[in-house]
Formats: sequence, structure tokens, C-alpha cells
Amino acid sequence: MSESISCDKTIYVWTAHHCRLHAPVGGALKSLRGPANYLPDCRKYRFGTDLRMSENTLFNQSYRRLFGDGVGLHKAADGFFQRFYYHFLQDAEISGFFRNTDMSRQISMLRKSFFHIAAFYVTSAPSAELERIALIHHKLGIADAHYDKWLDALVETVKEQDEECDLATELAWRWALAPGLTYMKLFAHLSTA
Ligand code: HEM
Repeated sequence: MSESISCDKTIYVWTAHHCRLHAPVGGALKSLRGPANYLPDCRKYRFGTDLRMSENTLFNQSYRRLFGDGVGLHKAADGFFQRFYYHFLQDAEISGFFRNTDMSRQISMLRKSFFHIAAFYVTSAPSAELERIALIHHKLGIADAHYDKWLDALVETVKEQDEECDLATELAWRWALAPGLTYMKLFAHLSTA
């Protein structure tokens, strides 16, 4: 079994044992099905027997259910990000940051940038766009706790929009986004002096 995900103009292919650069092509997320017995019940993973997050099949499948093959770049995904901001802005401190923001533009900006966060766990390298976004957020004064709330709101939205999302899928999302968010948080620690 192998899976592939496109990142900018590059396709990365990974199998149960490794991830490797495959071919420089454009295109969308392609995800082959895992074995039928793959992650049938998250309870067994409490014992850490076979998490196999290097493949992160549950994340890929959920991502595909939500966004199809378009890697979330299509305008059709705006409904998802609209719901995301509904959850994110429930927090008074967070909504304060967006007091003067054009939210339809913001939804579209997040949709376009989302893949850069999600791709980080596969590429292990930040894109130039992710670096740009991280710097902007550093200048905005976004801190660790804000990113944690961002992830909670994101997962809340996934649970709401993907009816097949169970606890193991939630873990798969948190796992997939953790590297990108860790990178963003690193910038939050930059000195402002
Ligand atoms: C990994 C998570 C996040 C991603 C991918 C992301 C993405 C973006 C993008 C693409 C922009 C537009 C940048 C531009 O102008 O070119 C933006 C702006 C912004 N983001 Fe985030 N963001 C994230 C997390 C957060 C968090 C945790 C906060 C906390 C409140 C936040 C607050 C803002 C604000 C205040 C703006 C500026 C809005 C304006 O123009 O008025 N973001 N974000």
C-alpha cells in the first residue's frame, strides 16, 4: 500500500515504512485505501500497538471526505472554513483579534493557506508561504495558547462536518496538524526586541 499527496508542484509518496519524493507533477491529493481492518477501533491504540501515523490514513480519508481531491483549495471548501471561524470566534479573546477583519476575505485566505499547514507533516519542511504566514502572525502577537484554540476549533469543525469522524480520526487530525502548528508557534517565541 502506498499513498501520495501533492505539495505545490511535487508529489510525495509514502508507504508503511517511509516517505519519499516521487515526482514533480501538479495535481490533487490521491489516497489509496488502507486494508479493511485498518484502525477499526481507536481503543486498541491506547496501548500503542499499531498507530502507524506515518501513513495517517484516517487523516487522509477524512480530508478527502471533507474536501474531495481538491486539497481544500477550491472555493467549495469555504463552507468548512466559515464553520471553523464560527467556532474559533466563540472565544472572546480570539474574536477581539478579528474585530476589524473582512471575514469573507479571511475565510478565503485560510482556505488557501490551509494546505501549507497540513502538508508540513509529510514534507517536514516549511513552504515559503508558511514562513510568510508565521511571520505575519508573530507580528500580530499570536501566542501558543491561541494556536491551541485554533486547533480545537478546527477539530470541532471536522467533527461537525465529517460524520465519520471518530476519536481515532480526531487524533489523526491533531497529529497531522501538530508539526505545522509547532512551526507557527516557534515564530511566536521570536524575540520582538
Ligand atoms: C495555523 C494556523 C493559522 C493559519 C494557517 C492562519 C492563516 C492566516 C492567513 C493566511 C492570514 C492572512 C495573511 C495575509 O494577510 O496574507 C491570516 C491572518 C490573520 N490571522 Fe491567522 N492563521 C492561523 C492561526 C491564527 C491564530 C491562532 C490566530 C489568533 C487569533 C490568527 C489570527 C489572525 C489575524 C488577526 C489575522 C489578520 C486578519 C486581518 O487581516 O484583519 N490566526 N491568518
